Amino acid sequence: MSQKRGREDGPTRVVVTGATSGLGRELARQLGARGWRVAITGRRADALQETARRVREAGGEALVLPGSVTDDEQVRGHATAIRAAWGGVDWAILNAGVGDSMNAKEFSAEAVRWTFDANVFGVARWLEAVLPGMIAQGSGVVAGIASLAGFRGLPNSGPYSASKAALITLLESARVDLRGTGVDVVTVCPGFVKSEMTDRNNPSSMPFLMETEDGAAAILQGIDARRRVVHFPWQLSYPTKYLLTSLPDFAYDWLAAKLGPLRKKRPSAEGEQRRGKNAP
Ligand SMILES: NC(=O)c1ccc[n+]([C@@H]2O[C@H](COP(=O)([O-])OP(=O)(O)OC[C@H]3O[C@@H](n4cnc5c(N)ncnc54)[C@H](OP(=O)(O)O)[C@@H]3O)[C@@H](O)[C@H]2O)c1
Repeated sequence: MSQKRGREDGPTRVVVTGATSGLGRELARQLGARGWRVAITGRRADALQETARRVREAGGEALVLPGSVTDDEQVRGHATAIRAAWGGVDWAILNAGVGDSMNAKEFSAEAVRWTFDANVFGVARWLEAVLPGMIAQGSGVVAGIASLAGFRGLPNSGPYSASKAALITLLESARVDLRGTGVDVVTVCPGFVKSEMTDRNNPSSMPFLMETEDGAAAILQGIDARRRVVHFPWQLSYPTKYLLTSLPDFAYDWLAAKLGPLRKKRPSAEGEQRRGKNAP
């Protein structure tokens, strides 16, 4: 495995996408506490400044890059800005993501496109931007934040589950392709962690809900250890990754139908806007 912590010629340079709230903001803060250089992205400029304040207060250096992972030019511009400031990237934590409920009885191709644009193509844009530099320097870590929701098609969650399944597979292929280059790929599959996204869930639908600090710490521990797939909390992740995936389809359908009504989220502000736009 390549480098674990710190670099000989200066603090580790890391980018965290989607750092304006939830896991991304807390990951940035905890990396700041290591004294690292932390580049942070997200669309809400004010919230990004608040994250930068927390990174600096914790002892790190922050580079604020407001913008969207869905915009090719912005992602390329952010990667260029990091190279200009620090000469390269050592870790890329590709965390930005969205999720809204969708029931197939009211299928929306637009909901699928919106979800994939951030959760899959957002990661793909960043991989294209950072991998050549990491391969050239012979070291680097890419960690993509997927989800336990990617292991089976969860009810009321088609676009989200499918996007995370795509991400798990995309990262797995990248991990295999990049063997021997010095670049490690870590796929992160959290269960439920407190964040703006999970604040919209029905509280009774989130077994073993974790504090944001603990979720971020579990992610960093897994990346430090260069685990191929980091999944937690074990009480939820072992049954999901190993039992649910091998359950016969008829048994899965029966179980999922029971879970369905619980898995409806309050819509996000973006989801509401999209629905308004698409209304006849
Ligand atoms: N919390 C959980 O239980 C849980 C479980 C499994 C996986 N995850 C995954 O963890 C990641 C973080 O989610 P979270 O739970 O911390 O939710 P969150 O608080 O809603 O954070 C999502 C972050 O993604 C950013 N984002 C969304 N769309 C973006 C875009 N187009 N461009 C740039 N940034 C964008 C948001 O920033 P802006 O809106 O300011 O752009 C925000 O900073 C997501 O990938 C999520 O799917 C979370």
